[in-house]
Amino acid sequence: MGTEAKKRIETLRDELRRHEYLYYVLDQPEISDAEYDALMRELKQLETGHPELASPDSPTQRVGGAPREGFVKVRHSSPMLSLDNALNEGELRDFDRRVRELLGGAEYRYVAELKMDGLSMAAHYRDGVFVQAITRGDGEVGEDVTENARTIRSLPLRVKDGPPLFEVRGEVILNRKAFERLNLERDEQGLKQFANPRNAAAGSLRILEPSVTASRRLDYYPYFLLVNGEPYCKTHWESLDTLQALGFKVNPKRRLCAGVEELVAFCQEWEAQREELPYEIDGVVAKVDSIAQQRALGWTAKAPRWAIAFKYPARQEATVVENIEVQVGRTGALTPVAHLKPVNVGGVTVSRATLHNEDEIARLGVEIGDTVIIERSGDVIPKVVRVKSPGADRRPFRMPETCPVCGGHVVREEGEAARRCINTNCPARLRESILHFASRGVMDIDGMGEALVDQLVAGKLVQSVADIYNFKREQLVDLEHMGRKSADKLLANIDASRREPLPRVICALGIRFVGERTAEILANTFGGLDKIRKADIEALQQAEEVGPKVAQSIVEFFGEERNLKLVERLREAGLQFEQEVRRKTGGALTGLTFVLTGTLPSMTREQATERIEAAGGKVTGSVSKKTSYVVAGAEAGSKLQKAKSLGVPVIDEVGLLRLLGE
Ligand code: IVH
Repeated sequence: MGTEAKKRIETLRDELRRHEYLYYVLDQPEISDAEYDALMRELKQLETGHPELASPDSPTQRVGGAPREGFVKVRHSSPMLSLDNALNEGELRDFDRRVRELLGGAEYRYVAELKMDGLSMAAHYRDGVFVQAITRGDGEVGEDVTENARTIRSLPLRVKDGPPLFEVRGEVILNRKAFERLNLERDEQGLKQFANPRNAAAGSLRILEPSVTASRRLDYYPYFLLVNGEPYCKTHWESLDTLQALGFKVNPKRRLCAGVEELVAFCQEWEAQREELPYEIDGVVAKVDSIAQQRALGWTAKAPRWAIAFKYPARQEATVVENIEVQVGRTGALTPVAHLKPVNVGGVTVSRATLHNEDEIARLGVEIGDTVIIERSGDVIPKVVRVKSPGADRRPFRMPETCPVCGGHVVREEGEAARRCINTNCPARLRESILHFASRGVMDIDGMGEALVDQLVAGKLVQSVADIYNFKREQLVDLEHMGRKSADKLLANIDASRREPLPRVICALGIRFVGERTAEILANTFGGLDKIRKADIEALQQAEEVGPKVAQSIVEFFGEERNLKLVERLREAGLQFEQEVRRKTGGALTGLTFVLTGTLPSMTREQATERIEAAGGKVTGSVSKKTSYVVAGAEAGSKLQKAKSLGVPVIDEVGLLRLLGE
C-alpha cells in the first residue's frame, strides 16, 4: 500500500514536471489546464495522506509555503558583477577594438543575447535538485529567496544529468502580459501600480509571502552555468546549450557571431523588433565565446572585459500638451499630469505623462500648448523630457492654491516638492485611503472597488475608513449595482478582514513610506501596533530597512489626533493589533539538514538542535554535500572550511533564527 502510493507519487511528479516543462519552458502544452490541475490535485491528496513522502522538489511545492520573517543574507560563490554599457554603435565597436587588441590577433567569436529587463538571480542545484536561490544583492552578498524562487514555474526543481553541484545565473522577469494583468488588478483595487516590469519582478521576488510570488507568474531565463563559481563549459555558447538540455528556459533568441559586424546586425535586428517580443528588453549583451579568452581578458574592478551591454536608446516622440490637470492622492499630494495629444511611442499610445510637481514644471519650463518630447523607458507612465517648441498661444500652468477636489487649504511644507491638501476629510483623500485599505495584499476586501467607494464617499456613508466596520445592510442595498446578495457578500468580506494579520493592518493605515514590506518588518520587530505607536524615531530605526525618513513619517502619523482616533476605532472594530505567534510545528525547516559549529551567542548547541528539530529540521555531525546549512558561531573550525569548499551555505545565529521564523 505504502509502496504503491510512493510509486504513484513518483509517477505523478515526473508527469507534472514534464508538463511544466512543456508549458512553461517550451510553450508547447500537450494537455489542457484542467487535466494538469487534476494530476496536481491527485498528487496533493496523496502527499497529504503520506507526509513522510513530502519532498521540496515536488511540483506541489510551487504554490508558496509559509510566510517568512525576513531574508537571510548569503555570500555568492563568486561576485555577481555588472556590465559596462555601450550606448551606440561607435561604443560597441570601441569595445570590440579593445577585445581584438587584448587578444593579440587571435580569432574570437561573440555570443549575442537579448538583455532582458529584470533582476539577476543565482540558483543552486545539488544532486540535480534545486536547493537555493540568491538575489544579486550588492554583487557579493545577496538575499536567500529560495522559497519564492521555487514558485517560478520555468525554474526546474529537479534536473537530470547535470554536474553534482552547480549554479545557474540568470534573469528573473515578468513578461508584458503578466505585468499588465498584475497592474490591472492593482488598479482595480486602488493599489499603486508598478512603474515597469523590472520593478514588479523585483517586488514580487523580494516579498515575504511566497504565495504572493506564486501568483505573480515570474519567469526565469538563465545565462550562466557555473561550478564552484567558475564557468562549467569551454565556451559560453556550449553552456547555454547545456542549460537548455538540462531543461532550463534559455532564450532561443541568441546568436554566435563571427565578428563585430554580425554582432551589430543582431543588435539592429532586435532593436527594430523589440516591441513584438512578449517581454521588455533594454539592449543586447555580447560575450566573448571562449572561456579561455574570457580568462585572458579578465575583469576590471566592476565588470568583465569580455562582455558588454549594448543599450537601446529610450523611445521618444514629440507631442502637444493639451492641458495640465491636478490629481489628489491618498496623502493629499497634488500631482500635475500632462494631458497629451495621443501619440504612438514604440508601439504604445500615450495620452498622459506625469509632471511630478511644480518644481519639475519649472525645470522643464513647460506650458499648456507646448510641443514636448516624451519618453517611455519600459515605464508605464511616460515622462516629459523637455520642451521641443513653445506653443503659439501657450499659457502657463499654476498649481492651485486650493484643493481641486474639496476646495480646502493646500500647503507646501519646507523641503517638500509636493503641495498637499491638508483637509483630512477631503473626499479625494478619503476615496484613495479606502481603496488602499481594502485592496488585495492589504485588507483584501473584495467588492470594495472604485465604483462603490465613489458612491460611499459622495453619499457621505463614510467619513473615515473605520466607518466601513459599522455598515448596515440597509445602508448598502440601495446603492447602485448593489442588491441584497452583494451587500451581504460585502459585509461578510468586511467582517473577514478583521482577521487579517498585523502587517496588513499596519500597511492599511496608509502611513507614508510604509508599504507591504516595511509593514511586515515593523510587525516582526515590534510585535504589536501599540509598540510601534509608542516607539520614537530612534527605536523605530532599530528595525531593518527603516531609515530616518520612514521613522519620521511613522512618528508624525501617530502624532496626529485624527490618526490616533482612527487607530482606536479600528481596535474597537476588532482588527488584529498583535502579531500572531506562528505555529512552531508544521515545519519551517522540513527537509533541511543542519550542522552546528562554534559557539553561538545566545544558545547552546543543545538548544539550537532542539529548536531546529522542533521546526522539522535535522541536525547532523558532519558536513557533506547534503547539508543544507552550516550554522557557524565564534571560533568555528574545520566544519566551516569544509562547508566553504563544498559550497554549502553558512549562516550565523541570526540567520538561523530567521529561518526559524523568529
Ligand atoms: S551577463 C558579469 N547576460 O543585465 C556579467 N546579463 O547590465 C553579468 N542581463 O546584472 C551579466 N540579460 O541583470 C548578462 N543575457 C544576459 C542578460 C543580463 C539581462 C542583466 C543582468 C545584469 C545586467 C548587466
